[in-house]
Amino acid sequence: MQSAVDYINEKTNNFQPEIGVILGSGLGDFVDNLDKISISYGDIPGFQKSNVQGHAGKLVFAEYKGKRVVFMQGRYHFYEGHSMQTVTYPVKVMKKLGVKTLIVTNAAGAVNENFNPADLMIITDHINFLGTNPLIGPNDDSLGTRFPDMSEVYKKDLVAKAESCAEELGINIRKGVYLASTGPSYETPTEVRMMRMMGADAVGMSTVPEAIVANYCGIKVLGISCLTNYASGITDTPLTHKEVIEAAAVAKENFQALLGKVLEAV
Ligand code: HPA
Repeated sequence: MQSAVDYINEKTNNFQPEIGVILGSGLGDFVDNLDKISISYGDIPGFQKSNVQGHAGKLVFAEYKGKRVVFMQGRYHFYEGHSMQTVTYPVKVMKKLGVKTLIVTNAAGAVNENFNPADLMIITDHINFLGTNPLIGPNDDSLGTRFPDMSEVYKKDLVAKAESCAEELGINIRKGVYLASTGPSYETPTEVRMMRMMGADAVGMSTVPEAIVANYCGIKVLGISCLTNYASGITDTPLTHKEVIEAAAVAKENFQALLGKVLEAV
């Protein structure tokens, strides 16, 4: 990890980001017009070389409205066959670079039948339904404690700030619980009913590993989901990845506007 930090500090001339952002589906081009330094994951010691889904697979360092930010353009997913260590390693590196706040974004299916495709949802809590935990294995005491508290992973003050940002923008924002399942298959209707009974409002295939590790390291987390579809069984239509991508594109303008405003506010 130290060699990753040294490599990044050399490439960015000790940029020292204070905020980290994981750009989910539809948000990859948020950084397009920023004055930035980009580093391919494959060039960073310890980062997995290939198979980043969706985007370029780059760490992007840029100032945004006076804030020093490191963006992850593309993330590692567990369903691609990456280990939990690979999925969460970038968050640990962010911690070592000095990141204090992590904004995690994703695409998710609406489990709450009152929510609609293209809605944005601020994550208030999560359910780890992955069947594993990214902290399994020897503990690195320099990062966090063996049995970390998870009573407020998504900090209430950040939820409130994001909510008022959405209000200012006139965005009808939702708040709810995100459940992570491994994927890559979408859920069955019965699984979705079970998830609803368990207290989930949205289901997706990412975010929870990164959020657990960030909270463990003492990084404050804000999570925002773009609800791209009704989860399986809420309507009669089968789910397609195409539908998810198309809905993410529809919501993109609001999502980018909200992220921009939130970056100013946090
Ligand atoms: N289920 C799981 N992950 C998803 C979904 C879904 O319905 N939509 C977008 N990501």
